[in-house]
Amino acid sequence: MLKTITFKVNGREMKVNCPSSKTLLDVLRDDLDLTGSKECCGKGECGTCSVLMNNEAVCSCLVLAGQVEGEEILTVEGIGTTSSMDVLQEAFVAEGASQCGYCTPGFIVAARAFLNRIEKVPTIEDIQEEMAGNLCRCTGYTKITKAIQTAAIRLLSPSTEKHTISSGRVSS
Ligand code: FES
Ligand code: FES
Repeated sequence: MLKTITFKVNGREMKVNCPSSKTLLDVLRDDLDLTGSKECCGKGECGTCSVLMNNEAVCSCLVLAGQVEGEEILTVEGIGTTSSMDVLQEAFVAEGASQCGYCTPGFIVAARAFLNRIEKVPTIEDIQEEMAGNLCRCTGYTKITKAIQTAAIRLLSPSTEKHTISSGRVSS
């Protein structure tokens, strides 16, 4: 049975007619054409489908449409676009952290939730622990964790904004 679900996505109110048992991931991709979020395991184990729900990272393959009524969702498209990249996306490019790119949207979303609450630059170990729910099949975790740390440095040190991010570090 179809139900009208009303919720906010990337700051805009959306109405979708769909079964309330449809996954949020499928609603985003099929009904709203937001294909940044990817499906991989489909059972909450890889983090590839991560989105923010009321500022908390969740696996959208585990959330049902009926659960998002009235809620706020932020997808990777709402974090930044090619023409207006988030500091994390810039750091991923600079560090070569995207590789095949399949897991990248999930990492960007989960890392954004992490960076939203940090007060000091996290260590590589802090980042590894925080990102443990996101898997990368290209096994490039070194570049990914470095990119997240580089973005954290930029966020916490506004004076570095005029500087360019080069591979491995922020430099002037
Ligand atoms: S596709 Fe959702 S956690 Fe893997
Ligand atoms: S970059 Fe290929 S799966 Fe992570």
